Amino acid sequence: MTNSYGAIDGYESVGTQPQQHNPAERSRSKPWIIIAGVVLCIVVIFNNPWASSSASLHLVPNNLDSDDDDAASADFTDENRALFYHDQLVDHFNASDTSTWSNRYYASTEYFKGPGHPIFLIVGGEGSLDHGMLYPFVTQHLAPYFGAAVIEIEHRFYGPYQPIVGRKATVEELIELLTPQQAMADMVRLASVFKDRIDCSSHRPSTEYCPVISVGGSYPGFLSAMFRLVYPNFVDISYAASAPLKLYDQSADPYVYYDIVTKAAERLSPGCAHAVRTTLREAKKLIELLPSVQDAVKSMNMCVDKVPEYITNVTKLSEEVMTAVSFIFADYNMDAYPPGPDLGLYKACQVFQENKTKSPLEKVTNFFQLSRELDEEKSADEDTCYDISLLLTDSDVSGNTTTEWSDAIDGNMWDFQLCTTLIDPIGVSSDSMFPPRKWSYEDLTEYCHREYGQSVTPQPFALVQNLGFDKLDESDASYILFTNGIQDMWSGGSYLEDLSDTILALNFENGAHHSDLSHVGPSENDTEDIREGFVKISNILERWLHEIRNQYN
Ligand SMILES: *[C@@H]1O[C@H](CO)[C@@H](O)[C@H](O)[C@H]1NC(C)=O
Ligand SMILES: *[C@@H]1O[C@H](CO)[C@@H](O)[C@H](O)[C@H]1NC(C)=O
Ligand SMILES: *[C@@H]1O[C@H](CO)[C@@H](O)[C@H](O)[C@H]1NC(C)=O
Ligand SMILES: *[C@@H]1O[C@H](CO)[C@@H](O)[C@H](O)[C@H]1NC(C)=O
Ligand SMILES: *[C@@H]1O[C@H](CO)[C@@H](O)[C@H](O)[C@H]1NC(C)=O
Repeated sequence: MTNSYGAIDGYESVGTQPQQHNPAERSRSKPWIIIAGVVLCIVVIFNNPWASSSASLHLVPNNLDSDDDDAASADFTDENRALFYHDQLVDHFNASDTSTWSNRYYASTEYFKGPGHPIFLIVGGEGSLDHGMLYPFVTQHLAPYFGAAVIEIEHRFYGPYQPIVGRKATVEELIELLTPQQAMADMVRLASVFKDRIDCSSHRPSTEYCPVISVGGSYPGFLSAMFRLVYPNFVDISYAASAPLKLYDQSADPYVYYDIVTKAAERLSPGCAHAVRTTLREAKKLIELLPSVQDAVKSMNMCVDKVPEYITNVTKLSEEVMTAVSFIFADYNMDAYPPGPDLGLYKACQVFQENKTKSPLEKVTNFFQLSRELDEEKSADEDTCYDISLLLTDSDVSGNTTTEWSDAIDGNMWDFQLCTTLIDPIGVSSDSMFPPRKWSYEDLTEYCHREYGQSVTPQPFALVQNLGFDKLDESDASYILFTNGIQDMWSGGSYLEDLSDTILALNFENGAHHSDLSHVGPSENDTEDIREGFVKISNILERWLHEIRNQYN
């Protein structure tokens, strides 16, 4: 992948060049799209103030007025201090393009015991990293345990520091530059410089060699696994939490995800599935009986003036409302750990299960009200009505197209990825508690053409053909640890079984979306399976580090 372009020295890679499209039309400005919050923080994108100029690793405070070029000021003690690598290549796969940008990252050597000890590389994903390091399990537990350094890299095109400076990237540029392959090449380049900086050898037999352990959850979990697969000479071990490889190689059942949401809701709050299913079915009929969109919107206490223009009749409105309900449930599902009555998923169930005298439309109204209350970002607004456009868009995209959502600007970039090579086929089956919704490549293609022009055609098999991650059990891939929360909808697209002696899967019965890497834990509130998981994960990594060391000594 990389070597044919000579961008990265000395790292083996597999596969061929990613399929690329013929650039054609420029993007029109796009509405905020219904797409997935898997990580997702809200940021404002502005132009990259860190014009690239000089060589090597620069460590500057997150201060837009100063650019500290003094290498001696290197400060890896504060894991939440934003640092910048000015020499990140804009395009790793075009040898004649040497332009660079400033890649934000975080690093910590707080527990580093020096050369010879591992480096945890936390993979950034589809959200701005404004608040420093993500995973306490890595920074506060694994790092001290292994005497390891930690580095976390912001994924290109997410957050304020963009590869294209001073203007919006064109669709043609995004097709080339906003890819998992480019993001991995960013990680190699940045982490190589970091390795040098902390005096680690890159020569495996050396006692100063620092093994690299990549870590990520969700899309970054996928990237973490790919990182080991594609750069086995640079990445020693991958820890990949809730990594939906079977989603991205198109081999998972597209209707499994909302079935899992349904089962998880039922497990957490018995009776939930029936209550939601019957309420939504009735609510849908009731909405469709109302004389106008206005009446229907008012009946659910939604803001009349914020209903997207494409909703011109009550049938469409009822479909969109049902879609919005399923998206909100999906979001709660991902966060549904540790189990208990504080969870959004539990509270959402209660809205449908309690108050038996309330009408279906009142329950739907209460559900949207709850989602407002639970959403810290939006609870500040004073509206007394619910703004459904926060979930939907001003173009008709929700029904059968992308299946995930966020209202952040980062969501725009994520939506683009979901229209290019990260294709996630996710429909809703009639076994789920939500009204069924079909999914098809045709609908997705239509949506992507409408949003980005004819040059953006989803390439469902480009990634798997390029990276070869569909036959891991037959490959010579090794040292990948998958972890899954069985309650997490994305476990439906993930490996739940060991694939070999060195490609292992740990499943947590109570776990939701990468709960082991949770943003808040580990804590006294962790369930037993996750607690045991922490020990198992540490033990597996320790064993593999020994094996890797012994291979060279
Ligand atoms: C590679 O980069 C050069 C220099 O920026 C540019 O002229 C050329 O169009 C690029 N090639 C591709 C295939 O993007
Ligand atoms: C309702 O609106 C949708 C979307 O605009 C349209 O496809 C559909 O035909 C309309 N249905 C009726 C019954 O008018
Ligand atoms: C049930 O109804 C009461 C009174 O309207 C309300 O205060 C309460 O929040 C409702 N419970 C749920 C779970 O919606
Ligand atoms: C979306 O899916 C629904 C239900 O599967 C179907 O009735 C509808 O025609 C689809 N809409 C489009 C635009 O394909
Ligand atoms: C554990 O849960 C309790 C009750 O919800 C909460 O008050 C406490 O802060 C939690 N502890 C941690 C470390 O998250």
